[in-house]
Amino acid sequence: MEQVLYHPEHGYYSSGKCVIGRKGDYFTNVSVGPLFGRLMLAQFAEIWEELGRINDFVIVEQGAHDGQFARDVLQCAQECRPEFFEAARYRIIEPFPVWRECQSRRLEAFRHKVEWRNSLEPFVGVHFSNELLDAMPVRLISAGVEKLVDFQSDKFLFLERPVSISAFNQAALDCVDNVAANLRRGYMITIDYGNSAAEFHGIVQVRAGHRHLDSPFEQIGYADITMQVDWTSIARRAEANGLRIAGFTDQHHFLTGIVSELGKGGSPEPCTRDRSRALLPDSQKSKRALQTLLHPEMLGRAFQVLSLARNVDCAAQPLSGFKFAREPRAALRL
Ligand SMILES: C[S@@+](CC[C@H](N)C(=O)[O-])C[C@H]1O[C@@H](n2cnc3c(N)ncnc32)[C@H](O)[C@@H]1O
Repeated sequence: MEQVLYHPEHGYYSSGKCVIGRKGDYFTNVSVGPLFGRLMLAQFAEIWEELGRINDFVIVEQGAHDGQFARDVLQCAQECRPEFFEAARYRIIEPFPVWRECQSRRLEAFRHKVEWRNSLEPFVGVHFSNELLDAMPVRLISAGVEKLVDFQSDKFLFLERPVSISAFNQAALDCVDNVAANLRRGYMITIDYGNSAAEFHGIVQVRAGHRHLDSPFEQIGYADITMQVDWTSIARRAEANGLRIAGFTDQHHFLTGIVSELGKGGSPEPCTRDRSRALLPDSQKSKRALQTLLHPEMLGRAFQVLSLARNVDCAAQPLSGFKFAREPRAALRL
């Protein structure tokens, strides 16, 4: 999985072959349209208020792909939350030059707001990722047996061997360690498809051209390979690193919570006559996008949202996204 996705020359992601959206291999929240970024902007701005409207608030995005989410957030911030826009910086963690170039073209209008790094640095603000953890390489371990890839007679195939280690998702756990080591004050919000430990199946998905392929050995380097996220192990690792679990729910409840708070307090009206200040534009396109993001049979239930926090009082009042959520540790079976 690591070679197929991240080999410097041939990797599906690292070489720039990945295309997301209608003309690509699969859809994400971001490819549904700018609405997702606008709703996340409302949540980021609320966090900024909670941290006392600080001047050096950093939005850190990891897995920014072509920069579309960053542009949606920054455009909406500039139009709807100018004070937040002034105070915030946008930091993209991008290890791959091909995506850095693409992002910098797409974010040309915001070049004074955006900075790029190869790896995380200490920050105060919010770390955001959408479908980052599911793209982290995994080991296929089940009931003490690991599947390994071999190459015989011009073909890839699986071999099995007994194994005593059980951390199949080390890269995702390392990612949590890394955020925990750099988050000084604020939140991590990560969205992905997965399950809590009790319902976790550890199935690898292979997708190309909006089709599910039967084997990871098909269309190598041209197909996406992901594994659902084991949320319980991620949350447990975060707690071991001193982070608090600030919320866990499905995307339906998360976005509904955010929408329900639009127009209250400091946030602008969801639909105002002045369209440039409308966080939730009153158009057919935007209504369709909202339905796609929220509907339980579309993206609403397939995706979950985990938020982790440091040095904030997340118990006193949950973020809007978690106002309709169950108690997170129980939901995560911790
Ligand atoms: C499934 S795509 C999601 C892209 C985008 N967030 C979206 O929702 O449309 C996963 C992305 O994570 C990136 N990625 C993987 N490992 C990364 C890492 N260690 N740091 C930053 N990005 C990484 C990949 O290059 C890819 O762009």
